[in-house]
Amino acid sequence: MREIDWANLSFGYEKTDYNVRINFREGAWGELEVSSSEYLNLHMASTCLHYGQEAFEGMKAFRGQDGKVRIFRLEENAARLQSTCEGIMMAELPTDRFREAILKVVKLNERFIPPYETGASLYIRPLLIGVGAQVGVRPASEYMFVVFVTPVGPYFKGGFSTNPYLIVREYDRAAPYGTGTFKVGGNYAASLRAGKKAHDLGYAAEFYLDAKEKKYIDECGAANFFGIKDNTYITPLSSSILPSITNKSLMQLAEDLGLKVERRPVAEEELATFEEAGACGTAAVISPIQRIDDLDNDKSYVISKDGKPGPICTKLYHKLRAIQYGDEPDTHGWVTIVE
Ligand SMILES: Cc1ncc(COP(=O)(O)O)c(C=O)c1O
Repeated sequence: MREIDWANLSFGYEKTDYNVRINFREGAWGELEVSSSEYLNLHMASTCLHYGQEAFEGMKAFRGQDGKVRIFRLEENAARLQSTCEGIMMAELPTDRFREAILKVVKLNERFIPPYETGASLYIRPLLIGVGAQVGVRPASEYMFVVFVTPVGPYFKGGFSTNPYLIVREYDRAAPYGTGTFKVGGNYAASLRAGKKAHDLGYAAEFYLDAKEKKYIDECGAANFFGIKDNTYITPLSSSILPSITNKSLMQLAEDLGLKVERRPVAEEELATFEEAGACGTAAVISPIQRIDDLDNDKSYVISKDGKPGPICTKLYHKLRAIQYGDEPDTHGWVTIVE
């Protein structure tokens, strides 16, 4: 096997040994299958290819100092996948089948789980797609669930450091009654132009306002937004953002740390009042925000004056990582230990 440079992994694809699959045919999910092929054999008229019947998830497994492997919030990811399936009318995979597949693929690829000291992890990517021959626009009758894994390092180069974001108005990622709350490929296709614009201008990611009024904060790139002020953790309530499992966890940890938690519409102007802010997600963990630029209005909301992560972001980041790696007790029952 090629040596993996664990400490310098990026957030990219590395081939591993196996993936797992479960097919849904004639109204029922079949047996779990193990494959060593990186390719899928799909009918060219599959609904996932034409009509976007595609859902995915993202979570991580961590190797602890005690050598144990921990998967973070597996059940929450199963539930969100079920919600996405309901949203785009695909067959729902029961949580116990989801768990069976995740545990199997992690165990089969154990040698790809990065060592504790490296700060890297094993990214787990489940996807569920509509397959079979069909031309009309309606839900497929057959589905395929696939899970692959890949070892990853930090999402942003530089790891836990502050980044600049760009408010982009000319492209929307999701509409108020659209599919923004579901993890479907179409939302990411819709985000590509905004992402490219932000990256081309030197920003870490694009920052979305609500599509209807362009007044309230939605989310940032592929991460949720939170701001901190007056000992309060504030995160947008919106019908077009993905319910982030990291954000949900951080709300709990913020409460544990004695902060108030508010989930409510956050107007753009409020950005000027935050003492700290961050983008949060499985890939980014917490990416503290340096500033958010609104070039259309010649405004720059500078959140971190000294360019460093703030104290509460830092505390939350370390607390979350400590639970994920097993350095601190899992008091909320968020972790599945791979036996
Ligand atoms: C659009 C979007 N928002 C937020 C998140 C963060 O969600 P989570 O914390 O569950 O990874 C993600 C990443 O999964 C995402 O793609």
